[in-house]
Amino acid sequence: MEAFRITGGARLAGDVRVTGAKNSVLKLMAAALLAEGTTTLREVPDILDVEYMAELLRRLGCGVERDPQAHTVRIAVPAEPSHQADYDLVRKLRASINVLGPLVARCGQAEVALPGGDNIGSRGLDMHVMGLERLGATVHSEHGFLIATRGDRLQGTTIWLDFPSVGATENLLMAAVLAKGTTVIDNAAREPEIVDICRMLQAMGARIDGVASSTLEIEGVDELRPVDHTTVADRLVAGTWAVGAVMTLGDVTIRNARAEHLEIALDKLVTAGAVVDVLEDGFRVQAFDRPRAVDVVTLPYPGFPTDLQPQFIALNSIAHGAAMVTENLFEARFRFVNEMVRLGADVRTDGHHAMVRGRARLSGAPVEAADIRAGAGLVLAGLVAEGATTVYEPHHVDRGYEGFVEDLARLGADVTRVPA
Ligand code: EPU
Repeated sequence: MEAFRITGGARLAGDVRVTGAKNSVLKLMAAALLAEGTTTLREVPDILDVEYMAELLRRLGCGVERDPQAHTVRIAVPAEPSHQADYDLVRKLRASINVLGPLVARCGQAEVALPGGDNIGSRGLDMHVMGLERLGATVHSEHGFLIATRGDRLQGTTIWLDFPSVGATENLLMAAVLAKGTTVIDNAAREPEIVDICRMLQAMGARIDGVASSTLEIEGVDELRPVDHTTVADRLVAGTWAVGAVMTLGDVTIRNARAEHLEIALDKLVTAGAVVDVLEDGFRVQAFDRPRAVDVVTLPYPGFPTDLQPQFIALNSIAHGAAMVTENLFEARFRFVNEMVRLGADVRTDGHHAMVRGRARLSGAPVEAADIRAGAGLVLAGLVAEGATTVYEPHHVDRGYEGFVEDLARLGADVTRVPA
């Protein structure tokens, strides 16, 4: 049992480098199942979720070798992987559901434990199921498992998603690449992480048109080959550093980051008063005065990312003025507001809106991280709170941020891991 202990008041300054995106690499690891042989992934972050996904792939019969220092993972996929993902792993890693599409496409059968809800909401799977059924799979649930089977081959079809779900787009894409004929996924999600999966699948031999648009057209092929692929940089980790720089009136250069994947978020920071310079291999964020409050509305990409919403609540809580933050993706993501209030923030929620009135100071207190991004938001708040803040349950943060505390300390923050 550990906690993060932060003493507020330091300014973040210096360089920090981000690795590949968690929300990409977990799916790239699942995509490896589509081809027999050894796939190599690079820029893999050394985080807990990658280990959980590695464990799941091992249970499916793959050999998985991780080199955390080199940030690589090698996945040796057998001719016939097994097809069952048990609850003990799925409950730790919701993204386990991403093996559903590849397994049913490649093995003809997939049994994945139902993930259930989590700390950010109920998170349905209806679009995953509807899409697989349209591709010709038979899907039902039994004894807590979602079971999908197919006949000879999945069949290309047209799928309209009610909502551009990231997980459903990925599962259906990874199923359609081996289907017979053409599949069109309309109203598809187009997050940079989905573009990354498309690029890897194309290198494996898949035929995909409309990459980065909301209509993906996939011409199924008989077989895919293993590849060597470098994961896209983590825009959410980069965005978290950017917000930290602004809140602490700091000067942080974020290397290996893609400013074009954070357009709205960086624009909001400029509105808040920051100076953002785009560099060849990243961007630099500086702030000189107390930030101004900025309204935020979360939406699927290219809208403002829900995964930066808690960090922007933290920023608004110390800004000049008041801002409305609207959360459209995950109903329970405002739960963390109660913890912000413990730090002295003035935040009121009503349904999916939060009104944040900036205060001149927050005051350090013990708080609890309920999920990855809430944890990141609380750490940022702790950096500017007077006195000491202890963030309990920091394993949530470690699921998504490699060496967060160590990087913060290098940038000048007074933060350590302590026994809880
Ligand atoms: N939804 C349904 N039915 C479905 C699929 C989704 O109702 O069949 C709903 C969900 O309940 C949710 C909304 O649609 O309310 C968005 O879900 P989506 O499928 O887009 O998200 P996801 O695939 O479950 C990924 C990321 C999240 C990120 C969201 C949105 C991974 C492993 N997770 O989740 O990341 O917030 O997309 O961008 O890629 C995080 O990293 O902290 C995180 C939670």
